[in-house]
Amino acid sequence: MTIDIKKSTSRRSVLKGAGAVAGAAVFASAFPAPFVRAHSAPLKVGILLPYSGTYARLGTAITNAMEMNLAEQGGKLGGRPVEFVRLDSEAKPPMATENTTKLVNAEKVDFLVGPVHSGVAMGMAKIAREEGVITIVPNAGADQLTGPLCAPNIFRTSFSNWQPGYPMGQVAYERGHRNVVLCYWNYGAGQQSAQGFRDGFEPQGGKIVKDIGVPFPEVEFQAALTEIASIGPDAVYVFFAGGGAVKFVKDWAAAGLKDSIALYGAGFLTEGVTGAQGDAAEGIETTLHYADTLDTAANKAFRAAYKERFGVEADVYGVQGYDTLTLMKTGLDAVHGDTGARDELIKAMAEAEFQSPRGPFRLSPAHNPVQNFYLRKVVNGVNEVQRVAVEMLADPARGCSMG
Ligand code: PHB
Repeated sequence: MTIDIKKSTSRRSVLKGAGAVAGAAVFASAFPAPFVRAHSAPLKVGILLPYSGTYARLGTAITNAMEMNLAEQGGKLGGRPVEFVRLDSEAKPPMATENTTKLVNAEKVDFLVGPVHSGVAMGMAKIAREEGVITIVPNAGADQLTGPLCAPNIFRTSFSNWQPGYPMGQVAYERGHRNVVLCYWNYGAGQQSAQGFRDGFEPQGGKIVKDIGVPFPEVEFQAALTEIASIGPDAVYVFFAGGGAVKFVKDWAAAGLKDSIALYGAGFLTEGVTGAQGDAAEGIETTLHYADTLDTAANKAFRAAYKERFGVEADVYGVQGYDTLTLMKTGLDAVHGDTGARDELIKAMAEAEFQSPRGPFRLSPAHNPVQNFYLRKVVNGVNEVQRVAVEMLADPARGCSMG
């Protein structure tokens, strides 16, 4: 069952398409409480993701794939029916504390899943650390979550912001680029993505000639594009995603820069948005821990099932949502659904290893994925894999005391 929390916890609505799970939840609640064995009671998963604003399509893709994975498990994890309680984060950091508190204290969820935005993640992580609720981050890359703020109960199935930037810095240098402009949404994710690029580019002798920050979630890129054109660098590395990525890539082409300056990015630039970007996206190369065309059984099965169920192509956000449920399942299977066996549950999650649609998945001691980063290129709207740029790359996890 999926429950949507709107502004007040008393206004709930059951979403369509959750029928398979709803039956199980109703069954459990048909018995008086004392007769329900603890391990068969529904498990509550609180989801804090954006369903409105520039990151809305990211939140939707993550949620879709979580629901798909749960349905593939017959609506149960570790033998227990699962209930999703979801809340729109609106990708607004100032609302993070109140929203997370609502899920943890009012809804008393067993697991927390979210968010997409690094700023929201900082607020969410503070509460997760205080309350100890087991939290899986299915997107937000804030380096701190698996750095100075790392904790036994905090896991990530996505990436650190540093991770996709670092391989691109190396690739740009190998290509012979020496003078690069960095252009990004000026908040944690963009800044840390840019730092990853620097770390892969500067030590070899590459030069960053300018940082251009654009306030999030602004999509007015004209001033930045004019400045880039006047500087005339060898290449530009960018961090934009969702609705902002659609607009940036179109504006870049419309400004006539596509044929004169090489454009690279963290792969989010072309994830889930190539349809909206159209021709403007063709040929763009990026690095990411996923590519549409990865030729593995896990990826093919995932993409086919997603397309069949939702009528659209899957993207990296879906992969991260899908793997969030796989990680949760690994932990819950180990303890047969008994969330009271907390240490064992956390240990099983930390040691999880599986074949993700992205390739092999395992976690670092800081609980961040150690994973391949691929160089991809948009061909006919598809993010085609060119090669592995860095194999099984771990985040440096600076400041994390675990492991
Ligand atoms: C983030 O804020 O951490 C973030 C948001 C969207 C992305 C990637 C990272 O696509």
